[in-house]
Order: sequence, then C-alpha cells, then structure tokens
Amino acid sequence: GREATLAIIKPDGLLGNYTETIKATIAHSGFKISREKVVQLDEEGAASFYAEHSTKKFFHGLIKYMTSGPVLVMVLEKENAISHWRSLIGPTDGRKAKITHPDSIRAICGTDVEKNCVHGSDSPQSSEREISFFFDIPSGSQRGGDD
Ligand code: CMP
Repeated sequence: GREATLAIIKPDGLLGNYTETIKATIAHSGFKISREKVVQLDEEGAASFYAEHSTKKFFHGLIKYMTSGPVLVMVLEKENAISHWRSLIGPTDGRKAKITHPDSIRAICGTDVEKNCVHGSDSPQSSEREISFFFDIPSGSQRGGDD
C-alpha cells in the first residue's frame, strides 16, 4: 500500500549540486515529498541515527562523513515507497553501481561504499524510526494504515 520512506541527500550530494537531478528523479517516479528540511548533524545525532552500525569498522568514518556538511532529509510517499526508492538509489557502493546499475542515483553521484550520496530506509520499521528521528509526526497522520 501507500508508504513513506526517509530519503537523505548526504553532504557529498548536497555540496556536489546533485539536488536538482535527484529531485527530478523523485518527481518523475511519482513520489510526493511530504516533508523536507536541511539539517547539519552533529556527532551525537549522527551516531544515534546510525546506532545499528556502531560496532562496524566504518562507523567512525561514517559519522565523520555525515557530519562534514549539511544534509537534505525528505519524507517520500507513494505505493511501495520503500522498495521503489531503494531500487532508484541502487547498490550501496557507488563505484560498483556505475557498473551494475548505471542509471541509478548512486551511479550518478556516489563515489565509493562510504560516500554514496543518498540514503533510503530499508524496511517499514526503519522508515518509521528514521522519519520520527527527523520529524515530529502529528498524531492525526499515521502512516501504514489501509486508507
Ligand atoms: P547507507 O546504507 O545509507 O547507511 C549506512 C552507511 O554506511 C552507508 O550508506 C554508507 O554511507 C556507509 N557504509 C556502508 N558500508 C560501508 C563500508 N563497508 N565502508 C564504509 N562505509 C560504509
């Protein structure tokens, strides 16, 4: 059914002037951007957002990357928004994406497995958590219902 997912244009995407291209893809793909804002994450915020990766070797670099400049966070809505946005952004590694998914967003603006330009929630549970991390959700507008 109709879903919401959290999309982030990461610091490399925002500073690299990919926002217009990415937003054109979002519009052409039938998503509604229901909320958006530019945020400068601090270390504590980034570490909390990526808490599930806190034991990974790349965690420190990831926090450094995600706090290196502002990010644009957006809530995207449509039928099957989570899987559709994940397929549009392509594989995690922007370098591999250029070979295997040349039309994907990460193929266009990603650099490598860390600096991959964009984020997308990977499940309904993640999207719920990630959206409420950045946005207050009014009690009258629950997502995931059958209406
Ligand atoms: P994303 O999948 O949106 O969320 C986790 C992020 O961690 C991922 O994007 C990359 O930016 C980063 N990441 C994932 N795997 C690695 C890795 N092997 N090395 C460095 N960074 C990574």
